Amino acid sequence: MRIVIADPLAYSDIFERALRTALPSADFVRWPDLADGAEYDLLVAWHLPEEMVELPRSLRALFCFGAGTDQLLHDPRVPADLPIVRLQDQGQAEQLLDYAMHAAFARLHDDTAVRADQHARLWRPADRQNRTRGSLRAAVLGLGLLGLQVAQGLSAAGFPVSAWSRTPRRIDGVACLFGDDGLGACVDDADVVVNLLPSSPETKGILSDRLFSRLAAGAYVVNLGRGDHLDEGALHAALDRGWLGAAWLDVFAVEPLPPEHWFWRHERIRLTPHRAGLPTPQGAAASIAAVATALEQGRSLPGTVRA
Ligand code: GLV
Repeated sequence: MRIVIADPLAYSDIFERALRTALPSADFVRWPDLADGAEYDLLVAWHLPEEMVELPRSLRALFCFGAGTDQLLHDPRVPADLPIVRLQDQGQAEQLLDYAMHAAFARLHDDTAVRADQHARLWRPADRQNRTRGSLRAAVLGLGLLGLQVAQGLSAAGFPVSAWSRTPRRIDGVACLFGDDGLGACVDDADVVVNLLPSSPETKGILSDRLFSRLAAGAYVVNLGRGDHLDEGALHAALDRGWLGAAWLDVFAVEPLPPEHWFWRHERIRLTPHRAGLPTPQGAAASIAAVATALEQGRSLPGTVRA
């Protein structure tokens, strides 16, 4: 099995050690070290590198080095009949849960208002609502591997959680809703909404004025999906009129986020440069190994997005 790794995040000794341990008999090559015209079986990439003009005929599958595959599905260099599989990494899910938890606790402690008061040297203890976790409602959009972990983790921490998915699901301790009607009910009166949906024509702009208006006053919006889920104009208006307490954004319509973008300067925005949930060496190595082994044995590939 010849595997090409084409993601700078995986160009490290730790990653390579984890990969060699998980798949001792495979040949791994980093994309920049690949000889011109070399053949290989499996390509691991999040985005195809710009210089990668075409993929070899030997290629049997494309492993997305991330959970969201939209950037590969839309890449004209990827043949329509090439199987695409996605990363399945519990370590990545755990980081996203931490991020969501961080935002939920920030809402619980009224972080935006407290920081604004500090800036203004205002002592206003009586204005703070005395909240406990059990009174702060969290809504999670998307129940794939990542959304599931986030919904369960928030629930286990004591937050009442509702979650929304395309198709019906049952999860202990989580109020699951689905379909168009379910979306409004899922986010009604939520204090924190965490988006982990995949990007698709159906989910584009889902973080909209309509959705914001269903949330509780002062809610925090956390976007961990894709930049195109967010209606930026609606967010700006909802933040400026004080309806939303804050937006925590890790993903953007254009990445890197251009320096002139208003997100950088808005006092109610907390932004991180698409780093809320990164692949972990052990989790990614196990996921790549599972796909490579299934390829070798002619079995269906775990994490298949397109067969
Ligand atoms: C990150 O954006 C991912 O798709 O895993």
